[in-house]
Amino acid sequence: MIMLDFSNILTKEIGNNGVLIDEIEKNAQKAIKLISEKPYKELNFLELPEQDLKELKEIGKRARDYEYFIILGIGGSALGPKVILEALSPLHNLRKKPKVFIYDNVDPTTFKHIIETIDLKRTLINVISKSGSTTETLAAFLIFWRMIRERKLEVKEHFVFTTDPEKGNLRILAEEYEIPTLVIPRDIGGRYSVLTPVGLFLAEALGIKSEELLEGAREISYRAFSEKLNQNPMAILASSLYLTDIQKNRKIVVFLPYSDRLKTFSEWFCQLWAESLGKEGKGTTPYPSLGTTDQHSQLQLWMEGPEDKLVLFVSVDKHEFQEEIPEEFHDIEGLRFIGGHTLEELINTEQLATEMALTMSKKPNMKLVLPKIDAYYLGQSFQFLQVVTSMAGLLYGINPFNQPGVELGKRLTFGALGKRGFETEGEKVKNYLKKQRFII
Ligand code: PA5
Repeated sequence: MIMLDFSNILTKEIGNNGVLIDEIEKNAQKAIKLISEKPYKELNFLELPEQDLKELKEIGKRARDYEYFIILGIGGSALGPKVILEALSPLHNLRKKPKVFIYDNVDPTTFKHIIETIDLKRTLINVISKSGSTTETLAAFLIFWRMIRERKLEVKEHFVFTTDPEKGNLRILAEEYEIPTLVIPRDIGGRYSVLTPVGLFLAEALGIKSEELLEGAREISYRAFSEKLNQNPMAILASSLYLTDIQKNRKIVVFLPYSDRLKTFSEWFCQLWAESLGKEGKGTTPYPSLGTTDQHSQLQLWMEGPEDKLVLFVSVDKHEFQEEIPEEFHDIEGLRFIGGHTLEELINTEQLATEMALTMSKKPNMKLVLPKIDAYYLGQSFQFLQVVTSMAGLLYGINPFNQPGVELGKRLTFGALGKRGFETEGEKVKNYLKKQRFII
């Protein structure tokens, strides 16, 4: 099981910057009570470990026959698959097939490079969109659709859709053109969807057993409702992040894993945390980071900058490889002392030293420890942080599953691009452009 160390946010360790253990426990109990009442149907993500994988596995097996696998999706429909790829098959495209490209951002240059690399005849394109109406995803889909048709290829052999069970543009096309389609359950929101076919289809296409991801998640779903606090680290973490914000004004959460394989996991967490909690003037700002790299970039700021941060370390107990550092240059102390250790020892020692340095300077920090990175513990990690985020939302008293703040930008984009029904927004964009003043 993933472990949480929260000693370095307690007043006992860091004095006035810390919070009281009684308060943490009280709010953790409150979080458990709130989540047990299941106030939102989106909490059904806790049931995902019990889903039927039969169809997913069949389509997943077929996907392994292709040379290239492209995902079109953005936000919650892209970040989870990115984590699965990077954490469970690092440097994948240099070593294995199918070669995977996850095209989320609308960048014409990235698009061109992908097109120049792949051979469409041997490519499977997985279009992921819960709503079926996300402009970025649909734009890329339309380009691929045209290309597949122009080359007289069968659309149903080159596309797989992952979308809502009933609604949306992709659902309409799926029925008309018989495109194989995987379902994102109705009640599961985008950023809580990694353990649906959104993430699991890619896992299967990579030859990773999706049931192992779900097995890890199952343990967390089970413990989420446990009132025994020593079995419910999610409640303790949610309560701690909530209290360090409202009592100590720690408005920035630095998410700091010590493994390249978890770099996108930082991005995934930051989206989950930001889009779920930033509402009604509440929430804290997540900052995606990476150890040891950011010790040489951000650490100075965390140590001596404004008193507004909390660092959440993620350390990995056992890395996949050890790699001994050779003992050379016995008479040059600067090189001698490094020899004889392993790279794993070095990265974990650096993490420990950074944690101690922050604590000795009375800076609040906490640590999650993963025994190792594999499908089981990655599944646990996803579910762990989804539970923590939901609990934090319930403590703040906001709905952690909607995102009303991103709608206005979407409507203005629709207006600017001439979508019917958005003429008023289109006018607003025109007037806005007239007002812009640049200095050259
Ligand atoms: O978490 C969310 O709901 C969002 O980040 C969505 O995942 C994102 O906007 C993409 O939406 P869709 O899957 O409907 O294309």
